[in-house]
Amino acid sequence: MSSLIRMHKNLLVFFAPVTQQWDGLVIFCSSSYLLIDIKIPHQEILTEVIYIMKGKIISLLKENGGYMSGEKISEELGITRSAVWKHINSLKEDGYEIDSVRNKGYMLTAEPDHLDEEKIRSKLDVSAIGKRLVILKTVDSTNEEAKRLARSGGQHGLIVTSDSQTNGKGRFSRKWSSGPDGGLYFSILLKPDLPPSDIASITLSAGYAVCLAVREYTGLEAAIKWPNDIILGSKKLCGILTEMAAQSDRIDYVIIGIGINVNNQSFPEEIAHKAISMRMALGRPIDRSDFFACVINKLDRVIGDFLISLSIDDIAHFKTLCATMNRTVTIVRAGQEITGTACDVSPGGELIVRLEGGKEITVTSGEVTVQGIY
Ligand code: BTN
Repeated sequence: MSSLIRMHKNLLVFFAPVTQQWDGLVIFCSSSYLLIDIKIPHQEILTEVIYIMKGKIISLLKENGGYMSGEKISEELGITRSAVWKHINSLKEDGYEIDSVRNKGYMLTAEPDHLDEEKIRSKLDVSAIGKRLVILKTVDSTNEEAKRLARSGGQHGLIVTSDSQTNGKGRFSRKWSSGPDGGLYFSILLKPDLPPSDIASITLSAGYAVCLAVREYTGLEAAIKWPNDIILGSKKLCGILTEMAAQSDRIDYVIIGIGINVNNQSFPEEIAHKAISMRMALGRPIDRSDFFACVINKLDRVIGDFLISLSIDDIAHFKTLCATMNRTVTIVRAGQEITGTACDVSPGGELIVRLEGGKEITVTSGEVTVQGIY
C-alpha cells in the first residue's frame, strides 16, 4: 500500500513502505518516500491521480454525510490541507455543490448533473443509433451541430447531445428553453438510403420510442400528443423537431432533435403552465445518463424497425398511447380552422379526423390543438 502525499511540479511523492516498481516510470527511492518522476508522456497519470483524489474526497464527504473538517480529510487521504482545499475548489468547478463553514469543514450538498459518457456507453446495447456519441457541455443547437457533422462526413446513427443549448430551436420557429437545468437535448443523424416520401412518419416513431422509454424507466403514464409531443397529464414533457436535407428522390440526411424535460425544477414563465419534467412528476431527480441510455436503446430498436418496414413498429400499441385519439381537435389548414374528432391513426402515421356529418379527413402535419391538452 502506498499513499500520495504531495504533488510538486513533475514529481509525485508517495509514502511507500516497500520499494515499488512501476513500469515505464523513473522511480527514485529515498528512505520511506517513493518519488515518481512524471515526464511529459506520463502527464495523464498526474491527471488520473488528481481525478482519483477528487473521487476519494467525494466518497468521504458522502460517507460522512454532514460536515467534515479539512484536517480529517487530509489525514484520511495523506495529503496536505492546502491540497484538500485545491481539490475542493476544483470539485466546485466540476459542478459539485460543497458548503464550507469555518471550524466545521466541508459538506457535499449536491452533485453535478452532467451526462456521464462512460456510464451511457456502458449501458448501450445498440446496432446503429448511438453507436457514435458526441457529448458537449454547450452548443448553439444540437440540430445545427448534427447538420454540421452530417455535412462533414458524420455517419448514420450518430447522436450529438449537450448539457445546454444557446439557441435551442422548437417547431414553427419557436425557441426551446435549453439551460443547463436538467433537460436532455440531443439530435440523431440518419442517412437512410431512401426517398424522402418513405420517412414521412419517422418523427412519430421517435416519439413512440421516447414514450416507451419514459414509461419503462419511471412507470409514469406518458402519452403521445400527435404528432410530435410526449405529455404527462395535460402538460408537455418532450418535443421533437425533425429536419431533412434531400433531393427529390434521395435523402441526404435527416436530423431528429429531441428535447426531454428530465430534472428541470422550473420553467420560464411563458411555458410554466404547460410544461412538466419527470422530476416534477416523480418528486425526485432522475439519473440523466442512465435514462438517456434507456432512451437511446429504445430509439435504436424502434427507428431501426421503422427504417426496415417503413411503418410504425406496433401501430395498435402506438394508438393506445396516443392521447389525441377520440378527442376533439382543431386543425389549421390553409389558414382555416377545422374541428372534428381524432378517430384513428393510419399505418403511415396520419391522423384521421371525423368531421361533423361523418366525413373523415387525413391530417399529415400542421398544428393540431387538442381540447383539454395545452
Ligand atoms: C418542439 O417545438 O416541440 C420541438 C422541440 C425540439 C427541441 C430539441 S432540443 C434538441 C434539439 N436541438 C434543438 O435546437 N431543438 C431540438
